[in-house]
Amino acid sequence: MNNINIFDLKDIKIESQVDDIVGWVTTTRNHGGLLFIELRNYEYVIQAVTDKPDDFPQVKTQYLVSLSGLLTKRTKENINKVQKYGDREIIISNLDIISTSKTLPFQIEDNLDVDEQIKLQYRYLDLSRNEMHKNIKMRSSVFLGIRNTMSKMKIDEIDTPTLIRSTPEGARDFIVPSRKHSSKFYALPQSPQMYKQLFMLSFFKSYYQIARCYRDEDSRKDRQPEFTQFDLELPFAEPTHIQNIIEKLIKNIFTECMDIDIAIPFEKITYENSILKYGTDKPDLRINSEIVDITNIFADTNIEIIKKELSNNHTVNSFITKKVVSRKDIDQLDKDLKELGSKGLGWFVIKSNEISGPLTKLLTEEEKVEIIKLVPNGGTVFFQAGDPISVNQYLDYIMRELTIIEDKNEYKFVWIDQFPYFEVENDELIPSHHPFTSPENFDVFLEDPNKAKALHYDLVLNGIELGSGSKRIHDPIQQTKVLKKWGLTQEEINERFGWFIEALSYGSPPHAGIALGIDRLLSTMLNTESIRDVIPFPKTQTGYDPLSNSPSTLDKNALNEYGLNYKEEN
Ligand code: AMO
Repeated sequence: MNNINIFDLKDIKIESQVDDIVGWVTTTRNHGGLLFIELRNYEYVIQAVTDKPDDFPQVKTQYLVSLSGLLTKRTKENINKVQKYGDREIIISNLDIISTSKTLPFQIEDNLDVDEQIKLQYRYLDLSRNEMHKNIKMRSSVFLGIRNTMSKMKIDEIDTPTLIRSTPEGARDFIVPSRKHSSKFYALPQSPQMYKQLFMLSFFKSYYQIARCYRDEDSRKDRQPEFTQFDLELPFAEPTHIQNIIEKLIKNIFTECMDIDIAIPFEKITYENSILKYGTDKPDLRINSEIVDITNIFADTNIEIIKKELSNNHTVNSFITKKVVSRKDIDQLDKDLKELGSKGLGWFVIKSNEISGPLTKLLTEEEKVEIIKLVPNGGTVFFQAGDPISVNQYLDYIMRELTIIEDKNEYKFVWIDQFPYFEVENDELIPSHHPFTSPENFDVFLEDPNKAKALHYDLVLNGIELGSGSKRIHDPIQQTKVLKKWGLTQEEINERFGWFIEALSYGSPPHAGIALGIDRLLSTMLNTESIRDVIPFPKTQTGYDPLSNSPSTLDKNALNEYGLNYKEEN
């Protein structure tokens, strides 16, 4: 295939000549006139050696060379047990340099501890490390796994445009100015959402795509401005159809790519139960703990802050651990929680039947007895008094912080459904998902949007939201009413979504779909720190690309061509 000589050394007999082995120099060592050169190529690492270094051109790390010589066995004490061919070496008879290299900005090695910015600036070098190769090859395998499964299921791969009209789905759009339409803009799609829905009324029986999506929002460990989705949409599908397909897909991917058998169907929990049990709609079911309501203990309490919450019909919820957590760790948790918005962390440490904690002196004898009963052999009770929907999230944070996941190969999937259509934020109704999601009951939606549920489902893996989908609205009148409840005026609806509502008006079938974040899937499969580790060329936290220095400025002439001008900012 390639016009280079990377034959496998296993076919070469010891004490025979090898010619023109190609590789990159990983290290050179000179031991009293003996020069050792370690070479790495696509298949293996091999050491070469000469006692006449001056007879050959001088090489440095990362030089690409071709060498010939005699393949010999290393002496017993020089065998490298880690390397496949660590028991042999080549005595150099000829060495040619194919390419030289500048001094590397960092060593190309596993467990590299280098500033992220530098790694991304030299991403092509970072990518050549074994760890990154494993990740990127897994990415390729997952793409293949998706295509194999979809092909078996006879689901069509259809692509959608990436220059579209700006119709934000929740995040901000990336905007692309148009030269031919001066002062007008395209946007990059946040997802193929509306286009994939259009296929449904274009008589396609199925659609999937591995789609690039763009959202102008701050990057985090599990967020990038540019990311990849597996996107699916089917006419006449109910949520369970979509979920069945996804379960089979995930099962196939894990079998094909990791040889791990994933049990299906996945567990299913309603949004409300998930919040009550785990404090989050993204529960990590590897954590074997649930939130425990301990309100009963405080029925006659003297503790004012608890009394006040109970008088508002709120509860006292707790996370109970058998660990006696140190004061230092508790103080840190308290600080973290306050930063997240909690009024503060309530806690009791129980050791040898004695309770400690700032509120201990206010406890009645009965309360003490009941609290000790929660962890009779000692431990810590963390608690939050308040509305469980808002305070349970803090207990979720503590659970995650204090749980060490031993088995890195455990994958716990769970569907979350029955989401509220709207969330209340600062007394305002904020839509939980995109506006094409069908309400569970349209009459309830119109009468009391606060109580309305969405036919929406999320797939969660090990505490990470992997995917999101819903049954869609296929009736143009309902779609318009939903957009109005979203807070848009008729003019705004016409302006932004008129073309889409028009399309829904031509015999649109009921339909449903989903999108899975492939980068998140890979990062969870491979247990990486961030999704940046599974994306070949990711951006930094601020959405910057240090490799090509992008985004970049345009000169005035280029801007003129687009009919653009901008305000200089310091
Ligand atoms: P949603 O916005 O929930 O749904 O996205 C679906 C999945 O895409 C992944 N994801 C991201 N991954 C990395 N970086 C990001 N910035 C990012 N944003 C989202 C997540 C998420 O669960 N159109 C709907 C899907 C549908 O209804 O069919 C949508 O895009 O894993």
